[in-house]
Amino acid sequence: MWSARNIVAITAAFVAAFGVSARAYTAELNTANLVNNPQKAALNWMMNCQGCHGVDAQGSPNGAPPMPGVVGKFLQVDGGREYLARVPGVAISPISDDELADLLNWMLLRFACDDLPTNFKPYGAAEVSALRADVLITQAMRERESLLAILSTSDVKRKTSVKNTNAKAPSQYCGGAHGS
Ligand code: HEC
Repeated sequence: MWSARNIVAITAAFVAAFGVSARAYTAELNTANLVNNPQKAALNWMMNCQGCHGVDAQGSPNGAPPMPGVVGKFLQVDGGREYLARVPGVAISPISDDELADLLNWMLLRFACDDLPTNFKPYGAAEVSALRADVLITQAMRERESLLAILSTSDVKRKTSVKNTNAKAPSQYCGGAHGS
């Protein structure tokens, strides 16, 4: 049997092991009002996503696609916002709707700040709850390809090639996390 004491000790060990890098992540980001608990979000990324996606969301060979320069662009196209919450890794992750919404917002700020639309609205728990129930079990890759195909058309390109032009956004959201 696991005593409450053991569980506390194990939790403390996890915090000791991961807490430092969780803080390193959050220090770089000014998460403004978009992420309720950045430290928890960073920890959730490490525990539930990083194994496939990589520490900097750089992806893995024949596995998760790289996020920087790509993931934020999905928000520019119809169905993209939904797609990000419906992919299996997101939808079936073992965390609550609240934490998952926070994690998605954190992930977008962390890895896609430059591509966020100026009117980016953070994911909410109720929205995520509905979307994750509609998980893309077998169609994720097909959905991804069709969204990317729409994004590659000249019309969308014109819109998305303009980086986040809201003068306040880079400092407000990105906090210099990407250097430039
Ligand atoms: C078992 C490996 C795995 C895990 C764990 C995982 N993912 Fe993924 N993720 C993928 C793969 C593979 C894709 C590409 C779409 C597909 O086939 O599901 C993907 C796609 C995505 C996408 C869409 C980006 C794109 O370019 O298509 C997002 C956003 C995402 N994952 C976020 C997360 C988050 C957040 C977590 C943790 C809660 C997570 N993933 C956990 C493998 C994983």
